[in-house]
Order: sequence, then structure tokens, then C-alpha cells
Amino acid sequence: SKAPMRVAVTGAAGQIGYSLLFRIASGEMLGKDQPVILQLLDLPQAQKAVKGVMMELEDCAFPLLAGMIATDDPNVAFKDADVCLLVGARPRGPGMERADLLTANGAIFTVQGKAIAENAKEDVRVLVVGNPCNTNAYIARAAAIKVGRTNPNNYHGMLRLDHNRALSQLAAKSGREVSSLKKMVVWGNHSPSMYADYRFCESNGDSVKALINDHAWNNDVFLPTVGKRGAAIIEARGLSSAASAANAAIDHVHDWVLGSNDWVTMGVPSDGSYGIPEGVVFGFPCECKGGQFKIIQGLEIDEYSKGKIAITLKELEDERAAVADMLK
Ligand code: NAI
Repeated sequence: SKAPMRVAVTGAAGQIGYSLLFRIASGEMLGKDQPVILQLLDLPQAQKAVKGVMMELEDCAFPLLAGMIATDDPNVAFKDADVCLLVGARPRGPGMERADLLTANGAIFTVQGKAIAENAKEDVRVLVVGNPCNTNAYIARAAAIKVGRTNPNNYHGMLRLDHNRALSQLAAKSGREVSSLKKMVVWGNHSPSMYADYRFCESNGDSVKALINDHAWNNDVFLPTVGKRGAAIIEARGLSSAASAANAAIDHVHDWVLGSNDWVTMGVPSDGSYGIPEGVVFGFPCECKGGQFKIIQGLEIDEYSKGKIAITLKELEDERAAVADMLK
């Protein structure tokens, strides 16, 4: 049988953690033949709650769960990790400015990026879920690059929830099954500025854009619905979208490690593709094979799309500027 893979999860006592850990332990993320060891990080005051989640994980008697630890020390949590899911983050408190939120998270993700680079496997894959996830991934990557050792391309932010949200909206509008939809893209930041782009999307060989053929719907209904979906869920449920976020994290890592048979949106450090400045963690269409991801090249960007991509890039560049001093 295979050697266990070590999966570190931060914010393990939180809402997303509660939807995520059981699915990782059951084999949904890394495969039904892949044992896992969970390395759970949370703040000191959350250690008791983490122990409670571990009790429940024990009570599932998952055959693939080969071990688990809980800690409040990032150096312990990331030791020899193959995959790090950075879910824990500082939420925006009452009266907190955006810049304060960025720097509070900057402090967390510089520490964690450094701890990953010093302790994890050299080929570790890192997915940041905690918001603002693109910029948090950018910060962790910058801190990791100072240490060396790990692969700078492997620090990702999570855009997959936006991608999946877009697929469901398109399925409902087009009357096609969600599983038939291929080649979806979400460009940019995980925020309402993201640009969900279905110009290339196909369903059983048909163009989804041609099927829908409604630019006003695209601009006035679809994009705002996908962009503001998180807020709509908080409004309806009284709590944020935890299960669907956990599901998207499972999808992202599953496809990265085991391959995708379709384009998938990943927030990855730009290599300059599509004019996005190098290093900016940006939602791109990617294809995964043999454990590697690749940005799909050569897509035509029309004037409308150029405008949308410029808006979401501007937001990311402003976030980057707000944390620049912390990365010196
Ligand atoms: P939550 O508040 O239920 O849990 C967060 C957990 O993180 C808590 O247990 C807290 O103690 C822990 N934590 C805070 N700082 C930490 C640190 N420095 N190290 C380790 N643990 C730490 O929040 P929830 O609902 O689980 O959401 C987590 C994050 O995911 C939030 O930032 C949220 O905005 C984000 N999110 C991202 C989505 C995406 O699509 N990228 C979608 C939905 C949520």
C-alpha cells in the first residue's frame, strides 16, 4: 500500500475545517487508495475545539486516516507536509479598514509561508483559502521564496468556488447538465471583481455562449450573481459558505494531484501570461496532468473581457501595494 501523505490544515477548528477534514480523511481529495496524516493548526484558544474534531474523526474509523496531530505551532503543523491548506485567517472585525485586514493577514501569512518553506516537503502544494486569499497566497509565497527550498509556483489561492458557482448558474440558464459544461474560466481575484468568462465554454460540443446568447444577462445577472454569491449565502444562512468552500478546496487539490479532464480555474502565481505581471496570484484557466498544472495559453481576450480583467487586476495590484512594506 502507498505511504501516507501529510496534509496540514490551518483553521482546523473553524467552519470550513469541519466540512473539509472528514472528506480528506475519507479519501475524496487524494484518492481512495491514499492514506493521509492530518496535521491540524489552530490558535491556542481553539486547541480544545480541535481536539473535539479529532474525537469525531476517530469515531468515523476512516480506513485511510493513518494519523493526526493538533498544534498551535506552524513549524510542527507543516513538518514534512505534502499539502498545506491554509484556511485560518483573520476575519474583518467591526470598523476594521481594508488595509488593516490586509496587514493583519500579512503577519499571519509571512509566518506561515516561512514555516512551510523551512519544514514542508520540497514539492509541497499550498492552497490558500483564508481571505483575502490571492494576496495571502502572494504573501506566503514571497516569504517562502526568501527561504528557498520549495517550489514558488506551488503557492495557490482558491478560485475554484467561483468556478463551480459559475458552472451551476450556467447549467441552470442553458438547461444543460452541469457535468456537460467544459472550459469555464474565472479570471482574477477571489472577490466580487472576479471575471467569470464563459466565452469558451462548451456543452456536448455546443457553444454555451451561443446557447445563452444574452449579453445583458451575462453583464447584469450572471456576473453579479457569481460575484456576490458569498454575501447572498451569508444573508440566507446567517453563516458563510463553508461546505461549498471546503468542496472547492477538495476539487482544487484533487485535480492538481490526480489530474483534471477539463480546464479548471486556479489562483496561481502569474508567469506573465495574458499580460498579468509576474508573481501576482491570479485566477487563470489551468489544465493538470501528472501532478503538474499549466496555464492554458493563447485564448483571445476581447475588448469587454480586457476591461473586466483590468478591473480585477487593479484590485490585486492595490492589495499588493498595501502589503509591500511587510515583504521587504
Ligand atoms: P471560521 O472563523 O469558522 O474559522 C477560522 C479558524 O481559523 C478559527 O478556528 C480560527 O481560530 C482559526 N485561525 C485564525 N487565525 C489563525 C492562525 N493564524 N493560524 C491558525 N488558525 C487560525 O472561518 P471559516 O468559515 O472556516 O472561514 C475561514 C476563511 O476562509 C475565512 O478567511 C473566509 O473568508 C475564507 N473563505 C474563503 C473562500 C474562498 O472561496 N477562497 C470561501 C469561503 C470562505
